[in-house]
Amino acid sequence: MRNKVVAGNWKMNKTMAETESLLHELSAKLPDTSAEVMVAPTSVNLAAAVHMLESSAIETIAQNMHFAESGAYTGEIAADMLLSIGVNTVILGHSERRAYFGETDELLADKVKTALNKSMRVIFCFGEELEERQAGSHFEVVERQLKNALFDLPAEAWKQIILAYEPVWAIGTGETASPEQAQEMHAFIRETIAKAYDATLADLVTILYGGSVKPGNAKDIFSKPDVDGGLIGGASLVADDFIAIIKAI
Ligand code: G3P
Repeated sequence: MRNKVVAGNWKMNKTMAETESLLHELSAKLPDTSAEVMVAPTSVNLAAAVHMLESSAIETIAQNMHFAESGAYTGEIAADMLLSIGVNTVILGHSERRAYFGETDELLADKVKTALNKSMRVIFCFGEELEERQAGSHFEVVERQLKNALFDLPAEAWKQIILAYEPVWAIGTGETASPEQAQEMHAFIRETIAKAYDATLADLVTILYGGSVKPGNAKDIFSKPDVDGGLIGGASLVADDFIAIIKAI
């Protein structure tokens, strides 16, 4: 049985006070759910979030980390720093980091290896651009992203990996992939993993959808057999919206 996950990627939003207020509201309103619920505040607020959520079922996760153990990387964050404050899961490969910070599949492969070697869990993001979908090359793009960053890993590493398919054209645009589009790609992803490894392993991989998930569309998207939850951006910044999406899983 695969884990269901609803994770909120807060991106570069919320001051310390706003973080405290939102986490307080989420903790108070969190429904009973068998899904894992995660929030990714901005890095300066991670330690406080871990402390605030220590008796909550909500896990605090990081939005990024560097591949090096330590060193001359101004502004960066190392795995041990995250682990030292109680953060054990990290989002890697988000399209915004690929676009704005030049993160390549190869660099991400190094980041993933570092996180896995530190026994962290990784939410690995990938997805095609609008032009790639319009050209019909979206399956090829997704397969390449997975192959270049993850398919050198040993089978047992996949216990620490959660995938997040995020079509770039759906991120922050309000242009959500249809449930059918999400299911089609998630099934392709699972089949691609099965070919690279085996069907048993593929069937156990949690695959999240991300890209304009809202309270009004979450249930239909999450109802699809190969969609195991969502990586939520904008809607995770509003307590009632995020809670409604959690209730939809
Ligand atoms: O990582 C999740 C994010 O990229 C999706 O953003 O605002 O479209 O839900 P949003």
